[in-house]
Amino acid sequence: MLKENGIKKKILALKKKRNALILAHNYERPEIQDIADYTGDSLELSLIAAKSENPVIVFCGVRFMAETAAILCPHKTILLPVPESGCALADMATSDQIKAAKKKYPGALVVSYVNTSADVKAESHFCCTSANAVDVRKAIGPDRPVIFLPDKNLGAYVKTQTVGRTILWDGFCPVHEMLTAADVLNAKHKHPKAKVIAHPECRPDVLALADYIGGTAGMLKYVRTPGAGKFFNVATELGLIHRLRKENPNKSFYSASDYLICAAMKLITLEDVRRSLKKMQYVVKISSVIKKKAKKSIERMLNLQSRDLSRI
Ligand code: 13P
Ligand code: SF4
Repeated sequence: MLKENGIKKKILALKKKRNALILAHNYERPEIQDIADYTGDSLELSLIAAKSENPVIVFCGVRFMAETAAILCPHKTILLPVPESGCALADMATSDQIKAAKKKYPGALVVSYVNTSADVKAESHFCCTSANAVDVRKAIGPDRPVIFLPDKNLGAYVKTQTVGRTILWDGFCPVHEMLTAADVLNAKHKHPKAKVIAHPECRPDVLALADYIGGTAGMLKYVRTPGAGKFFNVATELGLIHRLRKENPNKSFYSASDYLICAAMKLITLEDVRRSLKKMQYVVKISSVIKKKAKKSIERMLNLQSRDLSRI
């Protein structure tokens, strides 16, 4: 504990020296969430980074998240403390595969979940998040086919809520994919009063058992709504429970399974954050061409109302 307090002090001093902002995804280790200026979901954090005045952002999350921040903040230095922090789902789509899919389905629009590399975003017409994937698909309309990638479960969920042809990719998040309906039924049996809140990266038979389906920001909001109840079985990565408990001390949260752990989200330690700030490591680098193209797909998502699909 003494050692941890010492590292925290050093982080705060370095943060001041660099005029840096520390951001942490909702799945990060509790001590990383606690030292961060902001915790949030994949896109939320990048939007916070873009609005902030700080020239240096320490992004405690996985690479695609830090890349999204770098795309939205071209003049800031984005640091990813552990460069190996990747996302297995994001790795399931490459830009070459997208180019081939566009040839296979001419006229289709590519909608990429934010869990994709900058290269993939650059080849996509629209970006989307778990919070707005349905809205993006609806905004495109039923007449235009869509290639939705890389998560087949989120894609299948979008299909249940929209009309029109949506072609699914064969990607999945290994963490959420591992959760079975039997696990959820077991959790419901253990905590019968608890509502099930589930991330749309879960399989369709798991989502069929959920009282609420949404991304991490959506779940945080849902549990606060009047009438949502006091007990929750949480069907997403374990890290979210830290924030749920912290923000709702009078409510109870149970993980739907002991295996809901994303190893990549646990790589960053306090010592890594200290070193990152001291040595300015590791700067996220993306070519300006890719940044510009990738930004377009994010802007199209952010400005859904002002879209002009005929020109895409
Ligand atoms: P959120 O955008 O909902 O935080 O999810 C990110 C993620 O990686 C889910 O596995
Ligand atoms: Fe990627 Fe899954 Fe980890 Fe989220 S939980 S960062 S989708 S591997």
